[in-house]
Amino acid sequence: MRVKLFKGYERFWHWTQALLMIVMGVTGFEIRGSYSWLGFELAIDVHVICAWTLIVLWVFTIFWHFTTGEFRHYIPRKEGVVAQVVYYTRGIFLGSPAPFHPSEQQKHNPLQRLAYLSLKVFMLPFIWITGMLYYFYNEPFVQWLGEFGLGLEQIATLHVVAAFIIILFFVAHLYLITTGETVGQHLKAMITGYEDVPDKKPEAKK
Ligand code: HEM
Repeated sequence: MRVKLFKGYERFWHWTQALLMIVMGVTGFEIRGSYSWLGFELAIDVHVICAWTLIVLWVFTIFWHFTTGEFRHYIPRKEGVVAQVVYYTRGIFLGSPAPFHPSEQQKHNPLQRLAYLSLKVFMLPFIWITGMLYYFYNEPFVQWLGEFGLGLEQIATLHVVAAFIIILFFVAHLYLITTGETVGQHLKAMITGYEDVPDKKPEAKK
């Protein structure tokens, strides 16, 4: 059975966000001095342009989540969490059937809900808040940072810690998108919007 999982705007923001963040990772580590490719000045310009573009995208996307009701896909659920953990740590290697199949009503399994919620609520704000503090560091309205012992170097370090957390998330995300019925099933859904799921939905173990 084919189910429509991802709407046009959803696919647009997902891929735009992914592209912007990859470019920001590449330019960010050039700014940090890890390698030289675009040149320091250009790397900063590209990083800052991507940052503003990403922030505009996030504002629209938050608005979209609330006006369409799509935010409900990220509300945590207790049911099925244990079954999903058992599946990812054991069942998947033994060829057991997946305990969860997506539908229009429930696009994400209980662990995906938790992972994406923590990305949106903790990881992304961590990177943009530290990035913004970095950007506006010399402005009078952020002078209070010094009173907490937060110099530019400490802000940069916090921003890099946030970058590493996002990179870890990204690596796990890349692995998990290959764990569908076929290696490309989840990827295809985020490209076409549709996913093929088994006709009969097995009961999720509690
Ligand atoms: C909205 C989000 C973001 C904002 C506002 C932002 C902002 C900034 C700013 C202003 C700088 C300093 C540029 C300069 O030296 O003038 C910077 C550096 C950097 N950014 Fe971002 N950034 C964001 C997202 C990201 C992401 C997603 C990554 C990586 C995944 C990243 C990685 C880095 C790294 C590694 C540096 C170098 C830090 C250093 O100087 O040691 N940033 N960012």
